[in-house]
Amino acid sequence: MKKILITTPIYYVNDKPHIGHAYTTLAADVLTRFFREQGKDVFFLTGTDEHGAKVAESAEKEGVAPEELCDKNSKFFKEAWKNLNIEYDHFIRTTDKIHEQIVKEFLNKLKEKNLIYEKEYQGLYCTECEKFLIERELKNGKCPDHKTKPKKVSEKNWFFKLNLKVVGKLLKKQLKIRPERAKSEVLGLLKQGLDDFSISRQKVKWGIELPFDKNQTVYVWVDALLNYITGDGSDKFKEYWKDGYVIHLLAKDILKFHAIYWPAMLKETGHKIPDQEFIHGFFTINGQKMSKTLGNVIDPNEIVKKFGVDGARYLMLSQFPFGQDGDVKESKFAEKYNADLANGLGNLVARVLTLATKSKTQSANFKLDKTISNRTKQVRDNYTEHMEDFKLFEALEEIWKLISFCDGYIEREKPWKQTRVTKIQETITNLLYCISEIANLIKPFLPDTSEEIKKQLRINKSKVLFPRI
Ligand code: ME8
Ligand code: MG
Repeated sequence: MKKILITTPIYYVNDKPHIGHAYTTLAADVLTRFFREQGKDVFFLTGTDEHGAKVAESAEKEGVAPEELCDKNSKFFKEAWKNLNIEYDHFIRTTDKIHEQIVKEFLNKLKEKNLIYEKEYQGLYCTECEKFLIERELKNGKCPDHKTKPKKVSEKNWFFKLNLKVVGKLLKKQLKIRPERAKSEVLGLLKQGLDDFSISRQKVKWGIELPFDKNQTVYVWVDALLNYITGDGSDKFKEYWKDGYVIHLLAKDILKFHAIYWPAMLKETGHKIPDQEFIHGFFTINGQKMSKTLGNVIDPNEIVKKFGVDGARYLMLSQFPFGQDGDVKESKFAEKYNADLANGLGNLVARVLTLATKSKTQSANFKLDKTISNRTKQVRDNYTEHMEDFKLFEALEEIWKLISFCDGYIEREKPWKQTRVTKIQETITNLLYCISEIANLIKPFLPDTSEEIKKQLRINKSKVLFPRI
């Protein structure tokens, strides 16, 4: 069976998760469920990024040890994923012993292969990004993402010899970057030229000690990227990396690390490189990226409380196409929930089941209308194509087109006005078929609702799926 490994970035534990983090993790969950439906063997990896200056500074501000902050906040991520019915196979923490060991082995390999060297370095460091910025990346002297002034840092670091030709070749032949816009951005960066990058930090104490230099810790980004090959540390996991189709999901804030530095380090050390990186857009609030540093965040748990698990899952993925940015307004969530879930899906299921009960229709006694079988087949085909292409928003749209089609079909056929019982039952049978198809298609997105609809179809009795808000 074809193996697939799907990963999300591992999130910084300087704070709790917001719906931006939930977005990537939810998308990974939906894709995992979809590929499993297709009979694929999928491993879904997520987790938290716990070392480095950013986490250490947050801990200091809270007056706790970094370990304590990591334990506390990684729990918030796990809790949020549980509330959203996100079923990962493993949650990695970079403070896990097995991970620290793999990082050290990797660093030794870089040294043995003569891929790193020491030099004095001066640069502008954005702690929020955990990266050095160059002048031309700044906006009014500030980090464009976090609106904070980077710090002048001067220290001795170990540097990785970045061979851009190697990366260029990988991008051409092996590593697929999507969407096209993200790929162009990476190719643009390669064209501009990039310097060797630092893989260690001298003044950051909260990190993994370099095995060959006690005065340095591993740069948090190198530590973090290696999570993807640590996984749960098992031999079984290694097979997913080695033999599987490896997909990284991430947003564009961390594109350079994933599309340039990461494949370069892997290739030069003789590792397999990922097959695909899908770069999605940002949730923005009034045009500003939602971020912990800016403080303009929406808590995913609040959305679950208000709209239920499946309501929250739907609202997050139906905002805008996966791969584009989109402004979100929490005040608009209720409107969309009522229109698409309470009145759309929920109402259709209740209506058809009520008609079925009244007309004593048991499904499957009648032949399907050609229009119905054609329509559902077309929807399924389009849906599958979109899902295989990670077009989650378009796949949802396709399902909702089938819902409106059913509403139109009921209006046209007016089963309550028909006089012949067989004709009424035939109409309802067709609708029951569509609903069971809808229940199948929504399964990766709304797993509980899918189960509930199937149950209602079995017992021929409706219960409100999405109460109006
Ligand atoms: O960068 N809209 O962690 P991070 C959509 N630890 N997605 C968003 C988002 C938004 N407004 N904000 C965050 C790190 N995300 C590193 C990663 S991986 C080896 C190390 C999502 O906590 C999106 O996936 O800053 C983004 O790439 C990621 O969270 C960054 O999370
Ligand atoms: Mg960030």
